[in-house]
Amino acid sequence: MHKDVESILVSEKEIEEIVLRIAGEINKNLNGEPLLVVVILKGSTPFAMDLIKKLDMPVEIDFMQVSSYGKTTESNGFINVKRDLEQDVTGKNVLIVEDIIDSGNTLYKIKALFQDRKAKTVQICTLLDKPSRRVVDVNVDYVGKEIPDEFAIGYGLDYCEHYRNLPYVGVLKRSVYEK
Ligand code: IMP
Ligand code: MG
Repeated sequence: MHKDVESILVSEKEIEEIVLRIAGEINKNLNGEPLLVVVILKGSTPFAMDLIKKLDMPVEIDFMQVSSYGKTTESNGFINVKRDLEQDVTGKNVLIVEDIIDSGNTLYKIKALFQDRKAKTVQICTLLDKPSRRVVDVNVDYVGKEIPDEFAIGYGLDYCEHYRNLPYVGVLKRSVYEK
C-alpha cells in the first residue's frame, strides 16, 4: 500500500467486479443501440477505459473537461467547460462517465447541457458516490460504490494531480493535506 494511503476503499478485485456489473447493466439497458461514452477528464479515464472494453454495442468515445470555480476542494455550483466534445450529441444515447459524485453540481450541469443539445438519452455512470455530500438532486443511473465522506485517491482520482496511477481507490491520510 502507498505510504500516503490510510486504508483501501475499493480494491483492484472489487474494481473489476464493479466494471463487469455496470457494463452488464448498460448492455442490458441499451439492448444493442449505439452509445456515445463521454469521459469526464481527467479522473474518470481509467474507469471509462476499463468499462468500454466490456460494452457490446457500437461505441464512440469523446472527452470533456470541466472545472468548478472557486476553491479546489468544494464546488460552488458553477462549472467552466475547459474542453468541449468534438461531436454533436443531437439524437444520440449519451453515457457520462465520472469518477466520483460529491455535491452533484458537476453532473447536474453537464447533464442539462447535453439535454439542451438534444441528446436522445443522457445517462450517468459514476465509479464512486458520496451521497452524504449531495447538494443538488441528480439522478445517477449506475453507481460503482457508495463511500463515506473521506478524501479518495487512486484509479484516476487525484489530490493535487498525484496518485491517479494507483490501481485501487484509497483514503488519503489527513496528514498529507493538513500539514
Ligand atoms: P461535485 O460537482 O461536487 O459532484 O464534484 C465532483 C468532482 O469533485 C469530482 O469529479 C472530483 O474531481 C472532485 N472530488 C470530489 N470528491 C473527491 C475525492 O474524494 N477525491 C478526489 N476528487 C474528488
Ligand atoms: Mg473530476
